[in-house]
Amino acid sequence: MTPDAIAQIKRSHAAIAATPRQLSARFYEELFTTAPGLRRLFPGDLTALQGHFEAALALIIRNLDEMDALAESLRDLGAQHVHWGARPEDYTTARDALVAAIRGLSPDWTPALEHDWRAAITAIIVPMLQGAAVHTAVVAEQIAADAAEAG
Ligand code: HEM
Repeated sequence: MTPDAIAQIKRSHAAIAATPRQLSARFYEELFTTAPGLRRLFPGDLTALQGHFEAALALIIRNLDEMDALAESLRDLGAQHVHWGARPEDYTTARDALVAAIRGLSPDWTPALEHDWRAAITAIIVPMLQGAAVHTAVVAEQIAADAAEAG
């Protein structure tokens, strides 16, 4: 992403994040409308999760110009998501839901801003998916090693 695109995303995020919970509330609403089957993976009361989600997103947006520094945390977050039942294809669904949520809260939306947000969210979900894949590979190796040891 160009420095200009990152600046636009930061400005756009700051405007939305000024009202706590509105982005996460809208995000989960969009997500569960598009993919109602995902609702059962989440706790009934989303209040705590909304706070965690917004805090994580704020941290990522603040560090968009040095995403390498966040890669390991994002891979860990992706590995955790395996246990919560997130499948690879759910990540593009979540990306679309997040873009839709941000669009719905942004009076000054433009195609360029949509493009930049999509790129930013892609930069979040790719390391998460990589972390999920590595986690699964490590479990596979462990199972293979245990079987070899058992003879
Ligand atoms: C943009 C990508 C995503 C981000 C940034 C993200 C972020 C987070 C964060 C920060 C948490 C809270 C972690 C904690 O409390 O320690 C969380 C929990 C969770 N996420 Fe995600 N997530 C993403 C995508 C997904 C996807 C694609 C799914 C699949 C349906 C998913 C399902 C869940 C579930 C089920 C929980 C845990 C709920 C619980 O506490 O039981 N997330 N996510």
